[in-house]
Amino acid sequence: MESPFKGAILKGKVGLLTGGGSGIGYEIAAELGKHGASIVIMGRRKHVLDSAVSALRSLGIDAIGVEGDVRKKEDTVRVVDATIKQFGKLDILVNAAAGNFLVPAEDLSPNGFRTVMDIDAVGTFTMCHVAFPYLKKGGIIINISATLHLTATWYQIHASAAKAAVDSLTRSLALEWGTDYGIRVNGIAPGPIDDTTGASKLITEEVNLKKQQDSALYRMGEKWDIAMAALYLASDAGKYVNGVTLVVDGGIWLSSPRHMSKDEVKQLSKTVEKRSRDAPVGVPKSNL
Ligand code: COA
Repeated sequence: MESPFKGAILKGKVGLLTGGGSGIGYEIAAELGKHGASIVIMGRRKHVLDSAVSALRSLGIDAIGVEGDVRKKEDTVRVVDATIKQFGKLDILVNAAAGNFLVPAEDLSPNGFRTVMDIDAVGTFTMCHVAFPYLKKGGIIINISATLHLTATWYQIHASAAKAAVDSLTRSLALEWGTDYGIRVNGIAPGPIDDTTGASKLITEEVNLKKQQDSALYRMGEKWDIAMAALYLASDAGKYVNGVTLVVDGGIWLSSPRHMSKDEVKQLSKTVEKRSRDAPVGVPKSNL
């Protein structure tokens, strides 16, 4: 789909994306680039990075890839150094690297729990910390979160805890770095997004079908939806937005099972109204 934003809203900016080689991270990289930013993507798999960089360049985007793992401090330093060496500055840090898998809590080892905390939560903080000296000159941060922990999600205790920590980081950094340095720190919490690793690893066909039956917006989103939210937050359109994690899920996280049909509720409502109109004044409602 065509972007509703003007083409040059990020002209002259430099964006660094962890997990930028594929999925949501790549889509955000491509849209930031199409709107004028130069792009650095970081990821663990060289072949994925290489093909992502070629794809970005074929869109006319000035892009490089740097191999690395956000769990390793030396890798985070290397990618920030490479960004400064290549482009001279860093304006937009997007923390999109994440790990997740379905597992019942009783089968998850403490090391499995720690692994996801290390990638999502500690990795996000490390990147923010290492990038901070450059972001101080007017940068912004976008942390990719999730909706798992807004209620509770089956079989994802590790990722739920990690994304809750990410949201908390977003707020604390927005407070401290927003107040002292003007760095805006926001998050995006995607719902189920089609054509991503998350969708193939975490969403079963059965769940999908149930969701589609429930309501018009109860469907998978597109990577584009998340990239547009990122453009809003990264550009001046979001210049007064700080410390927010924007949920982009069509309202799915709000959902609860519908216990009564619309017709039933209308009928019941009329009956209840009539009963309370006809009741003698002063009779407690509980006696009606
Ligand atoms: N079920 C239960 N435990 C699992 C698991 C699964 N499906 N996958 C990994 N683990 C556990 C491992 O058993 C290990 O714990 P242990 O040492 O106690 O046995 C721990 O997690 C680390 O696993 P390992 O495979 O060594 O980690 P890794 O660093 O190679 O990979 C992951 C990290 C596990 C997060 C991997 O899924 C990954 O790289 N994911 C990136 C992509 C992704 O998941 N994106 C999700 C987007 S929503």
